[in-house]
Amino acid sequence: MIERIPLLTGWRFSPEWRDGMEKSEGGHAFADAALPHAPVELPLNYFDETSYQKVSCYRRTLPELDLSGGMRAMIRFEGVMAAATVWVNGKLLTEHKGGYTPFEADATDLLKGDGSDTLTVRADAREREDIPPFGGQIDYLTYSGIYREVYLDLCAPLRIGNLKVECADPLASEKDVRARVFAVNAGTAVEAAVEVTLSDLSGRRLASTAKNVTAAPGEGEFEVLLPSVSGLSLWSPDSPTLYCVECSLAPASAGSRGAEALPADRFKTRVGFRTAEFRSDGFYLNGKPFQIVGLNRHQAWPYVGYAMPARAQRKDAEILKNELRVNLVRTSHYPQSTHFLDRCDELGLLVFEEIPGWQHIGGEEWKAVAKENVAEMVRRDWNRPSVVIWGVRINESRDDDPFYADTNAVAHRLDATRQTGGVRYITNSSLLEDVYTMNDFVLDGGPVALRKQREVTGLDRDVPYLITEYNGHMYPTKKGDCEERQHEHCVRHLRVQNAAFADPAVSGAIGWCAFDYNTHKDFGSGDRICHHGVMDIFRIPKFASFVYASQTPPERGAVLKPVTWWARGERSVGGILPLLVLTNCDEIGLKFGPFDEIRVTEKSADFPALPYPPFVVDLRHIPPEKIGAWGMKWEDGLVTGYVGGKAVAEARFASNPVVSSLEAAADDAVLDAGAKDVTRVTVAAADRAGNPLPFSDSIVRVEIEGPARIQGPSLFPLIAGSRAFWVESSGEAGTVKVRLSCEGLETRELTLEVR
Ligand code: GAL
Repeated sequence: MIERIPLLTGWRFSPEWRDGMEKSEGGHAFADAALPHAPVELPLNYFDETSYQKVSCYRRTLPELDLSGGMRAMIRFEGVMAAATVWVNGKLLTEHKGGYTPFEADATDLLKGDGSDTLTVRADAREREDIPPFGGQIDYLTYSGIYREVYLDLCAPLRIGNLKVECADPLASEKDVRARVFAVNAGTAVEAAVEVTLSDLSGRRLASTAKNVTAAPGEGEFEVLLPSVSGLSLWSPDSPTLYCVECSLAPASAGSRGAEALPADRFKTRVGFRTAEFRSDGFYLNGKPFQIVGLNRHQAWPYVGYAMPARAQRKDAEILKNELRVNLVRTSHYPQSTHFLDRCDELGLLVFEEIPGWQHIGGEEWKAVAKENVAEMVRRDWNRPSVVIWGVRINESRDDDPFYADTNAVAHRLDATRQTGGVRYITNSSLLEDVYTMNDFVLDGGPVALRKQREVTGLDRDVPYLITEYNGHMYPTKKGDCEERQHEHCVRHLRVQNAAFADPAVSGAIGWCAFDYNTHKDFGSGDRICHHGVMDIFRIPKFASFVYASQTPPERGAVLKPVTWWARGERSVGGILPLLVLTNCDEIGLKFGPFDEIRVTEKSADFPALPYPPFVVDLRHIPPEKIGAWGMKWEDGLVTGYVGGKAVAEARFASNPVVSSLEAAADDAVLDAGAKDVTRVTVAAADRAGNPLPFSDSIVRVEIEGPARIQGPSLFPLIAGSRAFWVESSGEAGTVKVRLSCEGLETRELTLEVR
């Protein structure tokens, strides 16, 4: 492309579609809208999910365009739920089925380019039986509208539609880098010069090759080799080095844009060099064994569903990498935002990406869309080093060999560099993929945490094998649930991870799931939420999130989380023992009231395969005369984590917690002007020790001044002592004041700049 024009603002939106809207608003009620757009702002819970399953209309005027010299105007949609029909000036441009993958169309022939062109989109969010994932029940919501970006890409008549960068042997010190250039020629056959350059992210050129090609009309592919490139670093979770590959395609007569001269087209992509291989004895990254510790993620938020701009998408990747410290995320159950995946590339977070679907397989038209979804996913994300496997089955569907032979073939044909998986929960299912990817929900509190792979596959040999889900509905746990449940929730996550680490025939395990999510009435706790996350729907940690963070070395930061609300009478019978302490420290200390600190060096023997097993403090360590019993005085607590004898972390607990302060923090101080942007504000009622009060439901009022608004209600109760909300800027520059008040507590004010 030559220029990308974002079409994010200036939209008009009607919640109802009426015939003729492709030509005019026709006197119907339209309102101004900006992308990403949520047609319906939902309550947090207990809502009717059919409220958004509507057909709506979006319209906007296109800017003035210089289409001289044969320039082409491509309109690109990153995601419209769930089917889109697009018109330009009342004439049909394109149609697309599937809400999770991008599509584009060449609008040039329908455009005047004088600034009066109208783009109309009919967005059909009904759960139509001809489109995956619909047709059965689904444990998540799919929302509605144009919930991702739309762009107008001005391209040369001979344009580069896509670029795939491959490296046959990334581990070689001199790498042959192959660029596959997918060209589209809107004109007649032409001689052209194609040039491919590899640079680092600072723009330093590292290699470049040019060659002459003949571009026939229509689609064509050219291959350009950058041979024996040396000095390239590998991409890995610890060192996610990215490079930029840029390609230009210039017709022989290219030069200044005159009537005769044809402009050169460009395409840029980021790449990373690494190998990723699932073998029957585990996963190997860059040739070395690598244990996958992951979580599943839904791309949904409270109130606005999927319609969150780049910053929130990127933040989720940061939470997974830096707070939860997992090394892989599965984009359950569909291709997720490119902003999220961009951040995964940058942070070194591995990705299991899969096609849309949930248990149900539809008819022939449905299957055709599913196969197209495979192609669209692969073509969109094939250069991402983070993506290490394509999921080409409908999550947890029954076997359908002809269908899945096709989905595998599509992925392999388009991308020979990655293995496929297909997530299942049935045993003995046909292995048509490269990796047997299994949701193993066997752990129900009994003795077995994970089944042996041969018991699951029914095969007489080991194959590449990955656990793609566990826990979830087997033990839903809310952030504010009682201490005993929190304890068991943590133990179950620990047990499965321990079992995965212990079994060399398992590549790793991906837990269900990172964040609580809104769902259909047929799932969840009746409140339209699956409380399956190790974080709540606001991305506030539950205790179990520290199971994951604590499995990383203390050099990345000490983790110390005693699994307790610290009270004499919260548990049955009372007390806090046995006290589970999730930590990567090698020794802990517990000080109870006036008594001397007791030190514990011996880790729990129940999880021997974990890199950092937790501690369990019980009456062996602290005698009843010190910790006391029902009727005795409750005391302050201090748990300290030691590494090499040095105190590196502590957790303080108040024996007499009273609401002392309203704590509030924004994830970002500065938002971008020009388009919709968001940041999360977390708020908690805290005691004197700064701990959120787990059973506080104090009411918080939020007032916002300046060019921003709150998503969702501005008056709400805390949930288990804390909660969050997102402040959404309008795009206008200025200062935003966010005032939070709660009766009896000092008001807090946060200042954000939009610039
Ligand atoms: C799985 C399913 C997930 C989620 C999970 C809850 O069967 O793949 O989407 O519903 O159960 O534990």
